[in-house]
Amino acid sequence: MTIEYLADHREFITTVARWLYKEWGHLRSDETVDDRVERVDRGCGHQQIPTTFIAIQDNKPVGCASLVKHDILTRPELSPWLAGVFVPSEYRRRGIGATLVGRVVQEARSLGVPRLYLYTPGSGELYLRLGWSVVERTFYRELWGETEVTIMEFLI
Ligand SMILES: CC(C)(COP(=O)(O)OP(=O)(O)OC[C@H]1O[C@@H](n2cnc3c(N)ncnc32)[C@H](O)[C@@H]1OP(=O)(O)O)[C@@H](O)C(=O)NCCC(=O)NCCS
Repeated sequence: MTIEYLADHREFITTVARWLYKEWGHLRSDETVDDRVERVDRGCGHQQIPTTFIAIQDNKPVGCASLVKHDILTRPELSPWLAGVFVPSEYRRRGIGATLVGRVVQEARSLGVPRLYLYTPGSGELYLRLGWSVVERTFYRELWGETEVTIMEFLI
C-alpha cells in the first residue's frame, strides 16, 4: 500500500468524491455528486493547504484524507484541519486510516504547521489512540444538528 497525492492520481478524484458524498452528502442536502467532484478537485495540491492523499493498493484506491484550511465554520480561528478521512468498509481495520492520518500529520509538519485540528462525531477513540487530544465537545448545529462533535488537536 502506498500513500500518494491525489493530484498525481486525478483518475481517482471521482471515486473519492463518491465516497465522501455517500458518507457525508446528507449533511449538505443542496450539494450534488458533481459539486463534490469539483470540491475534491479544488482540494488537490502538492505540499500546500489544501491537499488530499489517496491510499493505493494493487492499483486500487483504498482510502483518502485531506489537509484543509478550515473545517468547522464556527471555529474560524482554528487552522489547519485534518478532514475527510475515509476508508471503504472492505478495507477497514488494517491500519490504512492510521497511515493516512500519519501522512497528513507529516505533511503539516513539513509545511511548518505547529498544531493540527480535526472534528469527529464518533471516531474520537481512534484519534486518541493516534496521539490526538480533546480540545472541546460542541454542537456544530449548522451541519450536524443535535449530534455532539469532538474537536481534537495534534501538537506537531
Ligand atoms: C474511521 C476510519 C477512517 C478508520 O479507518 P481504518 O483503516 O479502519 O483504521 P485503522 O485500521 O487504521 O485503525 C486505526 C486504529 O483505530 C482503531 N479503530 C478503527 N476503527 C475504529 C472504530 N470504528 N472504533 C474504534 N476504534 C477504531 C483500530 O483498532 C486501530 O487501533 P489499533 O491500531 O490500536 O488497533 C474508517 O472506519 C472510516 O472510513 N469510517 C467512515 C468515515 C469516518 O468516520 N471517518 C472518520 C471521520 S473523523
